[in-house]
Amino acid sequence: MRDPLEAAVATAREAGAVLMEHLHRPLHIEEKGRRADLVTQADRESERIIVARLRAEYPNATILGEEGGVRAGTANERWIVDPLDGTTNFAHGYPMFCVSIAYERDGELLAGAVYAPMMNELFEVERGAGATLNEHRIGVSAISGVGAAMLCTGFKPSDYERNARHFAKASNHAQAVRRDGAAALDLAYVAAGRFDAFWEFDLAPWDMAAGALLVREAGGRVTALDGCTFRLEGDSILASNGAVHDEVRSLLSAV
Ligand code: IPD
Ligand code: CA
Ligand code: CA
Repeated sequence: MRDPLEAAVATAREAGAVLMEHLHRPLHIEEKGRRADLVTQADRESERIIVARLRAEYPNATILGEEGGVRAGTANERWIVDPLDGTTNFAHGYPMFCVSIAYERDGELLAGAVYAPMMNELFEVERGAGATLNEHRIGVSAISGVGAAMLCTGFKPSDYERNARHFAKASNHAQAVRRDGAAALDLAYVAAGRFDAFWEFDLAPWDMAAGALLVREAGGRVTALDGCTFRLEGDSILASNGAVHDEVRSLLSAV
């Protein structure tokens, strides 16, 4: 049996290859209920492969995947899987999409992989051992003020009004604000020092698990948007290089 990091990396790569195959075929795009919340056959096929691989090596672990929900296990281990983060981007051929796989034991995130196949960028992380991008060590940026920062956020089209206020406030103070549409990758970009901070409301555990560990292991800070302890089941995330964290938090608290 491979260790969790090796299993996550190999599986994310394999699932990424599946996504790339589907990118060149006709896509069956469905809405999942909420407006513009998309799912395609590529999401499902990617999750099927991931679950099969992880099940084979970790038969007792619980697997939580976006498309299939919880596959209950008996052990105190959990895989947290987004088989395709950034489905809308994927459906348009916009390269900001990825596979995100995280491994948790006794409620603690221990390892993860985020793979963006169209850009062939693989982010790996292991608790206590740091974070890498294509095997090179990465770290958060050294930007110390929002005025010089590139921030990123995300939101569901159906929840535009609340997020528009935050976006406007941040845009009035930061050097730039981006909305790239793939939360797991947005978090990996904070870890790599490309974004100085990222925030979003109402994400799911599979959007955040691997990315949150990447940011922490790259030297950054992760909390809820109000500064309280970050929880995978919580209703917000603020991830940053640490230096701009409190400034972003107080900026967005006054909206
Ligand atoms: C979505 C993306 C997007 C975020 C949404 C997520 P999906 O995930 O991460 O950036 O704003 O909240 O649901 O549906 O593409 O896996
Ligand atoms: Ca997602
Ligand atoms: Ca997804």
